[in-house]
Amino acid sequence: MGSALALQLKQMHPDCRLIAFDNLKRRGSELNLPRLRAAGVEFVHGDIRNKEDFDALPPVEAIIEASAEPSVLAGLTSAPDYLINTNLSGTVNCLNYARRHDAAFIFLSTSRIYPINQIEQIHLLEADTRFELSAEQPFGGISPRGLAEDFPLEGYRSLYGATKLCSEYLIQEYHHFYKLRTAINRCGVLTGPWQMGKVDQGVVVLWVARHLWQQPLGYFGFGGTGKQVRDILHVDDLADLVNFQLQHLDLVNGKTLNVGGGRDISVSLQELTAMCQRVTGHVVPITSQVENRQTDIALYLSDATRVRELTGWQPKRSAEQIVTDVYRWLRENEAQLKPLLA
Ligand SMILES: NC(=O)c1ccc[n+]([C@@H]2O[C@H](COP(=O)([O-])OP(=O)(O)OC[C@H]3O[C@@H](n4cnc5c(N)ncnc54)[C@H](O)[C@@H]3O)[C@@H](O)[C@H]2O)c1
Repeated sequence: MGSALALQLKQMHPDCRLIAFDNLKRRGSELNLPRLRAAGVEFVHGDIRNKEDFDALPPVEAIIEASAEPSVLAGLTSAPDYLINTNLSGTVNCLNYARRHDAAFIFLSTSRIYPINQIEQIHLLEADTRFELSAEQPFGGISPRGLAEDFPLEGYRSLYGATKLCSEYLIQEYHHFYKLRTAINRCGVLTGPWQMGKVDQGVVVLWVARHLWQQPLGYFGFGGTGKQVRDILHVDDLADLVNFQLQHLDLVNGKTLNVGGGRDISVSLQELTAMCQRVTGHVVPITSQVENRQTDIALYLSDATRVRELTGWQPKRSAEQIVTDVYRWLRENEAQLKPLLA
């Protein structure tokens, strides 16, 4: 997401100096370096866990914090140190860097800050190809539009979700007490070309790639029929929002906003399979496993009413368009991507 945002912003503002700061931990992230260089985005190799690494950076006007260990399974079967040191201590280092230069701070947070135990209380209906939200719900913050920012926060949410929520809390403190200008975007599933999709993160890319290269997939949990639902958002739609926020910080300053495709731009796995079949022309075997995996949830839809009312922003790219864009990117860069993603 970080490199895609940098490239989009450079295109929108050719005279701006943009710096991408990354430790290249994510396999495949190095493929972005020639693209960034060609577009005139500077690259600094650094690690947000090390505050000394920020010394190599000049004063800046704004920071988009998009570096993370982004897997919801991170730390569950291995040590949580990298996750916590990056997603929490790393955020603090980024905040201190922002504070030093009075830079605006835009944070990519996640829908995963909402607790699993509360999401499990949501009333669902089972339709032909997906779960749907029922009109009657047990508490506030949830409606047929999706989860809103006042959804209950008490409970457990994954170590990943917890590190992001703790970061959100610190950002709010820096906003209030240090007068840092901040915006928190709580994103549903983000995707698009150049996302290095893998089994535990980047499901849309994974699904399209497996169809393109004719490899098997699996429906895990919730009866094993692939009815679990997520909203999805094209990274270019996210770039439109971040660009607006940078230019109208007064409108979003100090705000926490749910950002996602909502019901209109959402898919169940079954529906994603059908789209992938249409776009790639391939049908692949899909196994079925009835039992849920740790941290799985049946449905997440962002109720993005607040961000829409504040900014007028609405995503423009449909689910089908997202799948088509990802497919084209995989086809056009097959030699480079197949060894990584297949
Ligand atoms: N992709 C999604 O569906 C999604 C959804 C909601 C929120 N988010 C958030 O969006 C942001 C971007 O996610 P993404 O999907 O682009 O993930 P990604 O893994 O593709 O990108 C994260 C980048 O951070 C870098 N990184 C990791 N540890 C680092 C460290 N210690 N120092 C410096 N760089 C480091 C990685 O090399 C990688 O390039 C994350 O904050 C994530 O929590 C993503």
